[in-house]
Amino acid sequence: MKEERSSAMGDTAGFMGVMIYRWVTWVLLLFSCLLLSRFFILAQLRNINRAYHQWTPDPTSSRFIVPKEGVRDDKFLEVPQIVWGLNNQKIALARAALTGRKLNRTLLMPNLSASLFYKETDLLEPLGFDRLFSLHRFNSLCNGFVRISSMDSRSFSDVLVVAKGSGRRRTAERDKAQLEQCKTSEKDSHTVIKLEGKHPFLWHDHWPVLDYARVFEGLVLVDNLSTEVSRVVSKLKSLSSRTGIDQNKIRMSPFIFQPKYVAVHMRIEKDWMIHCKKLEMRSRARNGKDLKICSSKEEIMKRVSNIPGLEKPSVVYLAVANDLLEDRALLEGWSGFLAPYEKKKLGVLDIYSKYPYLIQSAIDYEVCLQADTFVGNSFSTFSSLIVLHRTMRMDRARDCEGSTMASYAYNIEGPAGRPKRWATNMSDSSLASINYGSNEVSCQ
Ligand SMILES: *[C@@H]1O[C@H](CO)[C@@H](O)[C@H](O)[C@H]1NC(C)=O
Ligand SMILES: *[C@@H]1O[C@H](CO)[C@@H](O)[C@H](O)[C@H]1NC(C)=O
Ligand SMILES: *[C@@H]1O[C@H](CO)[C@@H](O)[C@H](O)[C@H]1NC(C)=O
Ligand SMILES: *[C@@H]1O[C@H](CO)[C@@H](O)[C@H](O)[C@H]1NC(C)=O
Repeated sequence: MKEERSSAMGDTAGFMGVMIYRWVTWVLLLFSCLLLSRFFILAQLRNINRAYHQWTPDPTSSRFIVPKEGVRDDKFLEVPQIVWGLNNQKIALARAALTGRKLNRTLLMPNLSASLFYKETDLLEPLGFDRLFSLHRFNSLCNGFVRISSMDSRSFSDVLVVAKGSGRRRTAERDKAQLEQCKTSEKDSHTVIKLEGKHPFLWHDHWPVLDYARVFEGLVLVDNLSTEVSRVVSKLKSLSSRTGIDQNKIRMSPFIFQPKYVAVHMRIEKDWMIHCKKLEMRSRARNGKDLKICSSKEEIMKRVSNIPGLEKPSVVYLAVANDLLEDRALLEGWSGFLAPYEKKKLGVLDIYSKYPYLIQSAIDYEVCLQADTFVGNSFSTFSSLIVLHRTMRMDRARDCEGSTMASYAYNIEGPAGRPKRWATNMSDSSLASINYGSNEVSCQ
């Protein structure tokens, strides 16, 4: 009896031991599973985050496959200083680089212009390309498609100067013929071809949108400017996580929540309103076409508030001309669930004001590019370039319905009083609709 009992006790003890052992093993297993899954989720989120913020083109992506050809790095092209607005300068730079490609020559690093003077060219402050964009990233991302060299043009003696004509008689065909001529063996033998004349933004457009897109992809801000962009973006995101999360959402998906913001490139300054009214009138007079270019502040506010799927509340960044920062009315009249900010209210004016016009504009461009939702004017080249860039980043098959990288044109009314959904037609054969604007925008 005693023995039985003790053996029973022994059994029980043994049984308990095994149970505890199993239990501990299970707990350990469960715990490591939790740790592992959390690690994976975090790693995944980090990857998504990285993919989103430091997007670089996927070399295997079929849309951007480039045959390995490359341009010669012992023949060069020199171009005049690049001038006017950020968007004009980006287009000019792409035209210069693509002209280099056409001539199979490396572009000598051009000067951009830090200031915005249209007429007084002596006031244009030259700003080396590599003060704004990383030269190294440009050449590695463009991967030989086009190339820029930092060599000094003065170190070459064998320079052929070619005057590029302008004016009405200078047709695209003539321009192309001249470029072809530069490829004849006599002209091609010169180490440097120096193109003179009106600045490259006014050169003819001989290239499809996809070629421009490849060059634009290479334009990555230098590190210290990317840091400034991150400061502005994280300020917007911190505001949006303070006002934008309802507690339920935190409980349901603590890891998945990503603060979002909307960016609106609002063109309502006086100069623009005069300019856009003129364009509308001219189009009506010339070909009876009613273009929708101008939108009042009220129209913009209304259309933005009708965008489907916005977080309530939503932080809205207003990218506006500096003159408008003094206008307090800019921030008034927005729907209750929209919290509008411009540089001043956001408290980032000091970040911008350290820099000349071109760099301020480049920071704003990036802030709009990184927004979850972008709303712009389809007749603004600045807006159009942002939409082109966002279109390159989205998976169009899925995203025209979804909300990732969504862009809208506020000057065109879509269904239910919304602004029109907008993505660039990447198969367009020229940059015309980006450069001159269009009402024919869609997302397909
Ligand atoms: C440039 O010239 C090199 C060498 O002649 C050639 O291999 C390459 O394909 C050419 N590239 C272009 C873009 O024409
Ligand atoms: C760019 O501007 C600087 C300063 O004015 C000048 O020294 C340099 O030669 C210019 N570079 C080119 C390629 O025009
Ligand atoms: C970025 O930093 C470098 C080195 O610190 C400096 O030379 C350069 O001028 C800065 N760029 C701008 C645009 O301020
Ligand atoms: C995109 O551009 C191509 C080439 O110009 C044209 O054939 C096509 O219809 C355009 N697509 C849309 C949706 O506008």
